[in-house]
Amino acid sequence: MNKITIAIDGFSSTGKSTVAKQLAKHLGYIYVDSGAMYRAVTWFAMQNNFIDESHFHTQALTSKLSSIAISFKFNPELGFSEVYLNGINVEKDIRTLEVSSFVSQVAKVSEVRKQLVKQQHELGKNKGIVMDGRDIGTVVFPDAELKIFMTASAETRANRRYQELLSKGEDVSFKDVLHNVQERDFIDSNRKDSPLKKADDAIEIDNSNLSLDEQFNKILQLVETKLKENN
Ligand code: DC
Repeated sequence: MNKITIAIDGFSSTGKSTVAKQLAKHLGYIYVDSGAMYRAVTWFAMQNNFIDESHFHTQALTSKLSSIAISFKFNPELGFSEVYLNGINVEKDIRTLEVSSFVSQVAKVSEVRKQLVKQQHELGKNKGIVMDGRDIGTVVFPDAELKIFMTASAETRANRRYQELLSKGEDVSFKDVLHNVQERDFIDSNRKDSPLKKADDAIEIDNSNLSLDEQFNKILQLVETKLKENN
């Protein structure tokens, strides 16, 4: 059976990665969390003091881009691939609210995007991939056979992210998480290079009132229709 490319885009914390992982597992496809790549570059920038609350030395970061190697390694215990930065597992480090507060600034930089899109093309060159992000259906894989655009209200999304951070032991307030979600929505949708927007041929799914099972089954049906069309 011919493999297809599945692009899942949407605002932060819409549950893109949850459904993308489920789909990849079900189909035996590769799953790539492109947001993790932007987060890993952000973590690198933080570690090198290129970014903090008061400054962002864009050039210092772009001059070091060639020394950043991002890779994914499947962790059988967790059932998904973890992200590595220059050979070091940074999966936990990149998920904090602090990284979230800087990542949209880093993702605005065209040189960063160019570098990461190149790697994303390489990862998807044989199809059989589910990639989630902000520009996957519009820029990275404009010819993807299936494009999904996920939405949910900002409050619903902030609440999901808040529960997730609390469960990981982070000391955060709901107000700060909501602020971060709204701020990232704004920056991600209004940046010049590859802003977050629904591709014309993407199917929009608002999952505010869908359970994980309902969401998965709905998207799986769309996948099955596309797979039939493609064979
Ligand atoms: O999916 P996420 O919340 O982990 O993504 C983190 C940030 O990375 C998000 O706020 C915007 C950026 N991003 C992007 O610009 N393009 C992508 N394809 C994926 C993420």
